[in-house]
Amino acid sequence: MTLSPEHEELISAARDARSRAYAPYSEFSVGAALDVGDGHVFFGSNIENASYGLTICAERAAVAAAISGGFRDFEAIAIAGPDDALASPCGACRQVLAEFNPQMTVVFTTPDGPVAQTLAELLPYSFKSFV
Ligand code: THU
Repeated sequence: MTLSPEHEELISAARDARSRAYAPYSEFSVGAALDVGDGHVFFGSNIENASYGLTICAERAAVAAAISGGFRDFEAIAIAGPDDALASPCGACRQVLAEFNPQMTVVFTTPDGPVAQTLAELLPYSFKSFV
């Protein structure tokens, strides 16, 4: 998918969110910007913990902020890593995002520049509850 000016803007918001990461253990700061439509964007950054397994990824921090703010119509998310390292979302974050919109756009930094794909491309056959 070609990157639109809106995608570029969202990546720059993710880079900004990255500056607020708490990542003293891995020193791999990640920022996320989640577009929920109507001009609303929620931010997330990774939050690490001395008990390593309790770390919260930037994407899921952004999802928590959006849902808690009352917004569920996810249109796009951008994710930025250190020096624009590859910052494609981990499997857990893909599944959490797919809960709300498998067709959303995911923009992430790579050493060759940002890439945009649909979440369904990144996570085909995501798990769905039958309840
Ligand atoms: N991390 C994210 O924030 N998002 C991902 O999708 C994968 C990994 C964070 C977790 C940890 O703080 C650091 O990156 C290194 O794994």
